[in-house]
Amino acid sequence: MTKGTHAKKTVFSGIQPTGVVHIGNYLGALRNWADMLDDYDCIFCVVDLHAMTTPYDPAAMPESVRETLMVNMAAGLDPERCTLFVQSHVRAHAELTWILGTCASYGELLRMTQFKDKTSRYPENVNCGLFTYPILMAADILLYKAEVVPVGEDQTQHLEFAREVCRSFNGRFGETFPEPQPKFGPVTRVMGLENKAKMSKSLGNHIPLLAEPEEIWSLLRTAATDPARVRRTDPGTPEICNIHTIHLGFSSEEDILWCEEGCRSAGIGCVDCKKRLAGNMSASLAPVRERYKQYAAEPDYVHDVMLHGAKQCEQRAERTMHEVRKKTGCTTKSNRYLSPKGIQLFRSENSKQTREN
Ligand code: AMP
Ligand code: TRP
Repeated sequence: MTKGTHAKKTVFSGIQPTGVVHIGNYLGALRNWADMLDDYDCIFCVVDLHAMTTPYDPAAMPESVRETLMVNMAAGLDPERCTLFVQSHVRAHAELTWILGTCASYGELLRMTQFKDKTSRYPENVNCGLFTYPILMAADILLYKAEVVPVGEDQTQHLEFAREVCRSFNGRFGETFPEPQPKFGPVTRVMGLENKAKMSKSLGNHIPLLAEPEEIWSLLRTAATDPARVRRTDPGTPEICNIHTIHLGFSSEEDILWCEEGCRSAGIGCVDCKKRLAGNMSASLAPVRERYKQYAAEPDYVHDVMLHGAKQCEQRAERTMHEVRKKTGCTTKSNRYLSPKGIQLFRSENSKQTREN
C-alpha cells in the first residue's frame, strides 16, 4: 500500500509465526521496522515456510500466521504505510530458493550456527529445510531487490550468507540484485529471563509483547540479574545485566542513569530496578495492546491486508523472476510466450489457431 516510493530504498524483513511475539522481537526488530516506514519502501513478511523447518501443527498454522500479522500491525507496522504479506502466498519464494541454491556454498551452510543449534535441539528432526533455511531467507530478500534488512543480531550470519549468494548469482549470471545491507537498532540482542540463552519463542524464557502489566511484573520479578548482586548491598555491573538491556529499550535516559548509578553503588536493589522497568514497559506497550484489540475485532480488515500484500508482492516478485528466468536460461527463446500470470502452454504468435482459441 506504499505510494510514491520510487526513490526510496526497499526494506525487507521477516518474522516466523512460531509462537508468541515477545519483547526481544519488539526491541530487536519490530520497533525498528516501524521507525522506517516513512523513509523506505517497506515490505514485511510472516515467514510460514521457514516455520515449517521445526515441528509444528499444520491445523494451527493459519491462526498463528494471522496472530503474528496482527501483533506486527499492533507493534506499529501500519498497513497503510508498508506492505505486509505471508511468505507462502507468493510462490516465487520457493522457485527463487531453488535457483539461488545452485549459487550457494554447501560449506558455508555447514557453518551456520543456527543450523547447528537447531539440530542439537531437535536431533530427531534434522530435515533438509533446516539446512537450506538461509537460502530461502536470501530468496525472500533478493526477490524484492531489497537493499536494507533490519534484523536482530542473531540473523547476522544468515544475512552475510545472503550477501554471498547475491554476489555469486550476480557473478555467474550478470548484475541482477543489489547487495543487501543489515541494519541494527539500538538493542540488538535481548537475553531470556534466565539470562542463559537469547529470548526466544520456543524456549519459554520470554515476556510476551502483549502481556498485561501484572504478567509483566510477575515475569520480571523472578528474572535473572547480575549474579554478583547476591545481597542488596553487593554492587553490580549494569552492562552485563539483561534487565539493564531491557531498560535501554523502554526507559527514559533519566531512569537508565538512575538504574546504572544505583546498581554500581548498591544504592538500589534489583527489585527497585525491576519495578521501575515494569512500570515503564507497561506504559510504553499500552498502545500496542490497545491496537491489537482493535485489529482483533476487525478480522475482515486483517484478511484484506493479507490479500492486498500478497497481490502486491506477487506482482513485484514476478517482475524479478522474469529477469531471473531470462538470465539463467530457464525460459523459452522469447519471453513473449510467458505472460506475467505464468506460462501459457502451446501459445505462439505463429499459431493462428491457438490465438483464436
Ligand atoms: P524470529 O522470531 O526468529 O522470526 O525473529 C524475528 C526478528 O526478531 C528477527 O529480526 C530477529 O533477529 C529478532 N529477534 C528474535 N529474538 C530476538 C532477541 N532475543 N533479541 C533481539 N532480537 C531478536
Ligand atoms: N530467519 C529470520 C528469523 O528467524 C526470519 C526471516 C526470514 C528474515 N526471511 C527473512 C529476516 C528475510 C530478514 C530477511 O528471524
